[in-house]
Amino acid sequence: MDKLITTGGVPLQGEVRISGAKNAALPVMICSLLTEEPLTISNIPHLHDTTTTMELLAQLGVKLQVDEKLAVEADASEVNNVVAPYELVKTMRASILVLGPLLARFGRAEVSMPGGCAIGSRPVNLHIKGLEAMGAKISIRGGYIRARAGRLHGARIFMDMNSVTGTENLMMAATLAEGESVIENAAREPEVVDVADCLNAMGADIRGAGSDEITIRGVKRLGGGAHRVIPDRIEAGTFLVAAAVSGGEITVKDVRPQQIDAVLEKLREAGAAVETGGDWVRIKAPKKLKSVNIRTAPYPAFPTDMQAQFVLLNSVADGAASVVETVFENRFMHIHELRRMGANIELDGNTAVVRGVERLRAAPVMATDLRASACLVLAGLIADGETLIDRIYHIDRGYHCIEEKLAQMGAGIRRIPGNYLERVMPARAGAGAAG
Ligand code: UD1
Repeated sequence: MDKLITTGGVPLQGEVRISGAKNAALPVMICSLLTEEPLTISNIPHLHDTTTTMELLAQLGVKLQVDEKLAVEADASEVNNVVAPYELVKTMRASILVLGPLLARFGRAEVSMPGGCAIGSRPVNLHIKGLEAMGAKISIRGGYIRARAGRLHGARIFMDMNSVTGTENLMMAATLAEGESVIENAAREPEVVDVADCLNAMGADIRGAGSDEITIRGVKRLGGGAHRVIPDRIEAGTFLVAAAVSGGEITVKDVRPQQIDAVLEKLREAGAAVETGGDWVRIKAPKKLKSVNIRTAPYPAFPTDMQAQFVLLNSVADGAASVVETVFENRFMHIHELRRMGANIELDGNTAVVRGVERLRAAPVMATDLRASACLVLAGLIADGETLIDRIYHIDRGYHCIEEKLAQMGAGIRRIPGNYLERVMPARAGAGAAG
C-alpha cells in the first residue's frame, strides 16, 4: 500500500490548477446510460473513483474511449447488463447513481445495497422512495436493490433530507419519465447544477437546478452531446487551507470563486487576505491565524467536505472554536489522529471544540476517509519533523495527484510505493496501522 511522507515547515508558494470535480464527473459519466448516442465528457479528474465509474459502466456494456487529455467518450448503445455488483459498490458508494438511469431507460436495475462507511450509515432510502413515487417496484433481496418499472411517470417528490446523489439520481430518472416531475427540498450543490446542464445539453427539459425545487419535464429520448465538468471546489478549498496553515501565499487557478464563498468567508475571518478574479483565488496567510467557528450544512452553507481541513486550521490558530458537523454522523475520525500529533481537541457528539496549539509534531498517522486524509496531509506539511501517512488510497479516490501539486508549491512531500517501503524500511511500513 502506498504511503505519503511529508516534511513540515515550508510555506506554500506559487500557483496550482484545479482539476474537474469528482462529485460532478461521476454522475455526468453515468448520464451516458440515458442515451444510445455517444456522450463526450472533458475535464475528468484522474482519480480512483473515476476509474471505478468507468469500470462499472464498462461492466454494464458501455464502450469507453479515453483521449490523452482524459476526455471520455461513453457510448451506451449496447448496454447488456443492468447489475452494479457488490465488489464495485463497496469501494464507491456513488455507484448507486446508476439505479435511476438504468431503470428509466431499460425498466430494470439491480444495484448492490451500499453498506455503512467510515463517516456514518449513509442510507439510500430517499433514492428508493423517489423512484417508487415514479412507478418503480423495488425490493431488497440478497443485499441487492432490485428495481422494475414500465415507463416511469412524473411525480411530485419531497426529499426529507437534502441529498446530493439522491437529487441527481431522481433527476436523471425523471428525464425519461412520462410527464412532469418536481423535486422539492432538492440539493442545491453546484454539482447538481452541472449534472442538470449536461442532461439539458442531451435534450432534457430541467428547470430550477441550483434552487430547492427542480422541475423536470420527461422526454421520449435523450441524445448524445459534449460536456465539460466544473472545477472541484473542495480541491480548491483544500489547497487554500494548505496555504493558510503553512503561512504561504498561493494562487488557485481554474476555479469558480462564487462556489466557495462560504469557505472564503471563513478564511478571511481567520485573518487570511483573500482576493478573487473570474476563475482564480489568491490567498496570503496572516502571521497568526485566528480560530473560526464552523457549522457544516448543505450548500450554499459551509460544506461538510471542508470540515476536516478547518479542524486542522483551528488546531494551530489563536484561541478556541467549535466545529459542528450536521450532515454526517461519525465524521470526526481525523480528530484522533490530529491529537496524536499534539492537537488539543475535545469531542462531544457532533461538536468538536478545538483549542489552538503553537505547533503540531510529526507522527505516523492513518487516513480513514477521503477528506480526513486531506486534513492529515495538510497537518504533515506544518508539523515538526517527518510524518508518515498510511492508507492513502482514500486520498487517491478524490484528489488528482495531490503530492505533485503540493510539491510544485514547495511542500516537502513524497509518495512511497508500498512494496518499496516494506522491502527497505520494514519497521516503518507498518507504523501507521500500529498507530
Ligand atoms: C455527496 C457527496 C459527498 C458529500 C455529501 C454532502 C458525491 C458523490 N458525494 O454524498 O462528497 O460529502 O454529498 O455534501 O456527490 N441521506 C438519507 N437518505 C438518503 C440519502 C441521504 O438519510 O437516501 C442522508 C445522509 O445520511 C446524510 C445526508 O442525507 O446525512 C446527506 O447525504 P447525501 O447528500 O446523500 O450524501 P451523498 O450524496 O452520499
